[in-house]
Amino acid sequence: MKQIRELGFEFVHYAEFAWAQLEPKEGVYNFEWLDKAVELAGKNGLKVILCTSTATPPVWLVRKYPDILIEHEDGTKMDHGARQHPSVSNNYYREYSLVMIEKLAQRYGNDERIMGWQLDNEPRPARDYGKDAHQRFRDWLKNRYTSIDSLNKAWGTAFWSQVYGGFSEINIPKVSQMFMNSHQILDYNRFITDETVSFLDEQAIAIRKHADPRQWITTNYIPEYSDGHLRRSDELDFHSYTRYMVFGEHYGIGRKGYRLGPVERIAKANDFFRPIDGIYGVMELQPGQVNWGRINPQPLPGAVRLWLWHVFAGGSRFTCTYRYRQPIYGAELYHYGIVGSDGVTPTRGGLEYARFIEEIAVLREAYDPEAKNPETYEKRRTAILYNHENAWEIQRNRQTTEWDTEKHIDKYYNALKNFGAPVDFIDERNDFSAYNVVIAPAYQLIDETLVERWKKYVENGGNLVLTCRTGHKTRNGQLFEAPFAAPIYPLIGAKIDFYDLLLPQAPDSISVDGKKCAWTSWGEILIPDEGTETWATYEGDFYEGSTAITFHRSGKGTVTYIGVDSKDGEMEKSVLKKLYFELDIPLLDLPEGLCISSTGTDSE
Ligand code: GAL
Repeated sequence: MKQIRELGFEFVHYAEFAWAQLEPKEGVYNFEWLDKAVELAGKNGLKVILCTSTATPPVWLVRKYPDILIEHEDGTKMDHGARQHPSVSNNYYREYSLVMIEKLAQRYGNDERIMGWQLDNEPRPARDYGKDAHQRFRDWLKNRYTSIDSLNKAWGTAFWSQVYGGFSEINIPKVSQMFMNSHQILDYNRFITDETVSFLDEQAIAIRKHADPRQWITTNYIPEYSDGHLRRSDELDFHSYTRYMVFGEHYGIGRKGYRLGPVERIAKANDFFRPIDGIYGVMELQPGQVNWGRINPQPLPGAVRLWLWHVFAGGSRFTCTYRYRQPIYGAELYHYGIVGSDGVTPTRGGLEYARFIEEIAVLREAYDPEAKNPETYEKRRTAILYNHENAWEIQRNRQTTEWDTEKHIDKYYNALKNFGAPVDFIDERNDFSAYNVVIAPAYQLIDETLVERWKKYVENGGNLVLTCRTGHKTRNGQLFEAPFAAPIYPLIGAKIDFYDLLLPQAPDSISVDGKKCAWTSWGEILIPDEGTETWATYEGDFYEGSTAITFHRSGKGTVTYIGVDSKDGEMEKSVLKKLYFELDIPLLDLPEGLCISSTGTDSE
């Protein structure tokens, strides 16, 4: 503990997977070891983040109620001996978790050495075909639709004779069954997301019952953006994320780029998590080699320090690491720590952490909380409107293997980072008017309210960018009984004649101001209204010369509609550049791999 402090660390992270040690027998609690650990931390000037241990229920609980184990669709169940095997849709698991958490909170909720709480571990929605899960899904549906008739309508069960007579007849959809009702799948995904969200919220409420409000509550989310639970547990004080950069994938730039990972892996996580609550933390940042990649290379010397700075630059309030000591037993034997397997010798990554801590202390001294960001930088601030349900829906009805929703969004995100623009990922709960430009890429699911909000935003001077695959469906995932994507026509000042999809070996091109860009994945052939400008046209096929991109002024603002997705992102970059020039927003042109963030510096 003394060494942890000497290396400069200011807090420790305890009891993430310790339910068996905390409650060795049902109702029998043992806090002695944790009391001692907290005391040691306190004596050495370290604060503590306490965890709720729910990812690892003790064996007595699993054997007493085997139904808490996740059941797969073929009827097999997970078992004790790993982690993340219980189901958040099992009533016993929820009940026992909350009892244990309350005991923890009663004991440590007013301890001033505890600064905050981390719930569970990397919570993510999981499919469970157990009894409780089925019942909870049916109850969730009853709550959503009230009557079976409205569910039948929402799910379009008239198709293929799927009609239900009562909620009790409904089961969890099977993955193995081809062409399972896609509206049912959409609702099932919403259900498992809500289950994860409410499990976290209930944990936070249980802690708050006993804890001093000074102790904050968060959890360590994985930045998997298409998981819907990331910005939804409102009982948390803020969101934190975990990030691993080097594990044999994500090649980065150049031959050895895999030793560093791509810059946007951290940049995007920062820009996604910060806007949720205004602050965020990083709960795990790789200290060296990991054990779980297909190939686990050494990070480049200096990489750990660079990542730490990047996390800080995005506005993170703290960075924690996984883990301090390299474990000498268990599933993660080959995972590096701040110190090695002898428990005392700092690793290279550990020394980089220590160096960063020293450096940040200097910065802390010089920090001026009143300092403002440069005006030009703020002018470029752009929001990306994001809803995970769009990605789910597109994935179900992909129409072409050439399409990738996350890559489509990244084409815009990466262009903005290249321009030196600060970016916030926002959702429909946010106020659009805080941004000069709002980009809503492939925003598939819409309703009248949203279209009305977009319209108002533009009328009042906002600049909206919509991209292909937007506005095709209602929130239930059904098409509108109208021409394709008709509700957005007045907004974009154009109609969609049809869309086309090309084969990978025969790309066509679009030309933006004379620059040709290849595409294959999705192209909408647009018919602009009078007064709407054409910014790009198609080349190379029977619709050669027709419009691919439009620009439409409306009220005090503008709407740019980009009806096509390019192969390499160059088209997206060119169109945004053209738009920002039109809007008189000055841009930078940063070299690949470099991105800037400003947290109160008055020059760029
Ligand atoms: C994370 C997890 C940690 C640890 C780590 C290993 O996904 O939250 O508990 O297993 O991976 O890299």
